[in-house]
Amino acid sequence: MNNNKPVNILAIETSCDETAAAVTRNGLKVLSSIVSSQIDWHQEFGGVVPEIASRKHLEHINPVMEKALETAEIEAENLDAVAVTYGPGLVGALLVGISAAKALAYSLHKPLIAVNHIAGHIYASYITNKNLQSPLICLTVSGGHTDLLYFEDLNNYKILGRTRDDAAGEAFDKIARYLELGYPGGPLIEKQAQKGDPEAIDFPRAVFKEDDTYDFSFSGLKTAVINYVHQRKQKNEEINISDIAASFQQCVIDMLMANVCKAVKNYEVNDIILSGGVAANQSLRKQLTAKMKEFGINVNFPDLKYCTDNAAMIGAAAYYQYVDEDFAEFDLNPEPKLSL
Ligand code: KG4
Ligand code: ZN
Repeated sequence: MNNNKPVNILAIETSCDETAAAVTRNGLKVLSSIVSSQIDWHQEFGGVVPEIASRKHLEHINPVMEKALETAEIEAENLDAVAVTYGPGLVGALLVGISAAKALAYSLHKPLIAVNHIAGHIYASYITNKNLQSPLICLTVSGGHTDLLYFEDLNNYKILGRTRDDAAGEAFDKIARYLELGYPGGPLIEKQAQKGDPEAIDFPRAVFKEDDTYDFSFSGLKTAVINYVHQRKQKNEEINISDIAASFQQCVIDMLMANVCKAVKNYEVNDIILSGGVAANQSLRKQLTAKMKEFGINVNFPDLKYCTDNAAMIGAAAYYQYVDEDFAEFDLNPEPKLSL
């Protein structure tokens, strides 16, 4: 491998409801990042409909890839590799991206790189802050995963905790649907919460029997919100959606922060990374930043456009696999339940 030659990677991401392609140079320089959202198609169903997601990916994948190359002002022949998310995600949705990536890589005689979507979310933080220092704690919170990780260095990590039921973003989406606010729930709950009192309702924070766990649980909170609304309706009492949203959001934030606080007390930590779609939440960003300041630790989050699903983060992660010559075979299959 010629170490001085820049490495241009076209990355593809179709694990859920965004059709995305990006060109990255040497991992962290984003030459283009195109995201075609399907939100309008799924909104009326209150969540992602897998069949619709696959069909829309099929419609959009080629134009999105072409736009990514055009914006980056790069010819396909000048790419060094093609990277693609191969899990976790919806099987039919992943399949569209994987098929497109295989076809392009094969026709160009370039390597194919299979990227774990969760690793992508983690690398998204490095696009925004290139000087992150290990050891680090990473909290990845999105619609499909809630993972607390400890990185001794980038190649050496362990999973401290993860959700035992719903993911944090999934909880936002389910409560938003229950409150008839729409989809995706995170930004809509956040907007309502701005008008409400986070202390209005004392929803329960999950507690585990074991002291030494860093796991999360959000399904009890979801049930508590539903019961609260149900009981008030039965008694014909007023339902203040903003107070419910603010109290629910605060409860999620408190549970996330509790485990991060526990981790920084037990581990040596230089930096904290907050990543995934829920990292777009301004209250979570502010409160975690303020709390970690007490420990003298910086909290880093990706730019908003790299918090939710995008392909630039896949290209960033793929570069390090390219350097290690960690290439995929052309019989690559989606792995919907892939974990880190
Ligand atoms: O990372 P992402 O785009 O997709 C997955 O990998 O799941 O995350 C989407 C999730 C959704 O559940 C969405 O409701 C949540 O992130 N989300 C938010 C916010 N923006 C997106 N949750 C809370 N506050 C937000 N501002
Ligand atoms: Zn994601």
